[in-house]
Amino acid sequence: MTELHLWLRHEARTTERRTPIVPDDARRLVGNGVVLTVEESPQRIFPIEEYEAAGCRVARAGSWATAAPRDAVVLGLKELPGEPSGLTHRHIFFGHAYKGQPGAAELLGRFAAGGGALFDLEYLVDDSGRRLAAFGFWAGYLGAALAVLRHRGRLRAPLTPTTKEELDATLEPAAHDAGFTGLVIGALGRSGRGARAAFATAGVDPTCWDLAETRDLDRPALLGHDVMVNAVLATTPVPPFLREQDLDTPGRRLRTLCDVTCDVGSPLNVLPVYDETTDWDEPVRRLCDEPPLDLIAIDNLPSLLPRESSADFSAALLPHLLDFGVSGAWGRCLERFREASRAHGLDKGEPHGE
Ligand SMILES: NC(=O)c1ccc[n+]([C@@H]2O[C@H](COP(=O)([O-])OP(=O)(O)OC[C@H]3O[C@@H](n4cnc5c(N)ncnc54)[C@H](O)[C@@H]3O)[C@@H](O)[C@H]2O)c1
Repeated sequence: MTELHLWLRHEARTTERRTPIVPDDARRLVGNGVVLTVEESPQRIFPIEEYEAAGCRVARAGSWATAAPRDAVVLGLKELPGEPSGLTHRHIFFGHAYKGQPGAAELLGRFAAGGGALFDLEYLVDDSGRRLAAFGFWAGYLGAALAVLRHRGRLRAPLTPTTKEELDATLEPAAHDAGFTGLVIGALGRSGRGARAAFATAGVDPTCWDLAETRDLDRPALLGHDVMVNAVLATTPVPPFLREQDLDTPGRRLRTLCDVTCDVGSPLNVLPVYDETTDWDEPVRRLCDEPPLDLIAIDNLPSLLPRESSADFSAALLPHLLDFGVSGAWGRCLERFREASRAHGLDKGEPHGE
């Protein structure tokens, strides 16, 4: 079997400080015979020297397109730069291209033009369809942390990447903080567990709901909590947890709503009470004035804790990278890519390098 050459690229998105492989795991890959080239990247949370010390080769930022051998597998997290127009390599990243998202046809068209292939990390799943590497825990952690800070009047904007230690220090309850009730929906999932952990750090013991508790939804009970974090992964449409008219319910206690799920605009959206996400510059939007209800709906939460979220993700991805091309998970990933390409009338048969 030819040795695997992984090429860790610089992220084109300037605010993205995360990486799918941290230096400690880079060392393990190299120790297992993987050739690992790492591009220099001014914003990556881990300096290039740490990868170099781990035995990685170093390349210029963005040089994969011209310098990576054709059989190298290019690894990243978020979108590729707009060029080159034809993608000749196999790429591992979050493509966001299989649910009719804007730009999906263009991205798949670039792969078809170059003969490359996409192994989309969102579709790297086990036999039962469960994601093998995901950022959910830290999304939930941050979602609940920001909601608590807002509720206590201590959220400062713009948000900037931080560390768990610094974040946790801000979550410590102060003597003058009034008590409040919290609710996590989707509490048994990755994000839900993260949300519960952040509430615990903030000294709050939230009510936890998952599928069993929302089957026959008790909206008055939902509206009776001060802070709510939605962390569900909806796969089939269910009745919304909140509708516009619920916000006018007399006696509503709910003041702070954090939607980690951020399915805004989708038929699966369980919170159709807003139509635009919020962001690091303006994390909070007021949905109602009397009584107030504030929304936080940020769709790149884990990037705010780049070190911790990269380390977790990398640890989950490492064993699968060591099995690249061999395990069933990568085969399923490739099949998903082919299906999506066929749906766009683009499938041209086997990509190279298999
Ligand atoms: N905002 C962000 O930055 C960010 C980052 C990562 C993930 N996410 C999103 O967070 C969501 C959760 O991701 P995850 O990794 O935690 O998923 P997960 O599969 O680990 O957990 C989802 C949980 O939701 C529960 N659930 C599903 N439908 C429900 C319903 N109708 N009522 C109650 N519970 C329900 C499931 O039983 C499960 O426990 C996803 O939509 C994901 O895309 C957002």
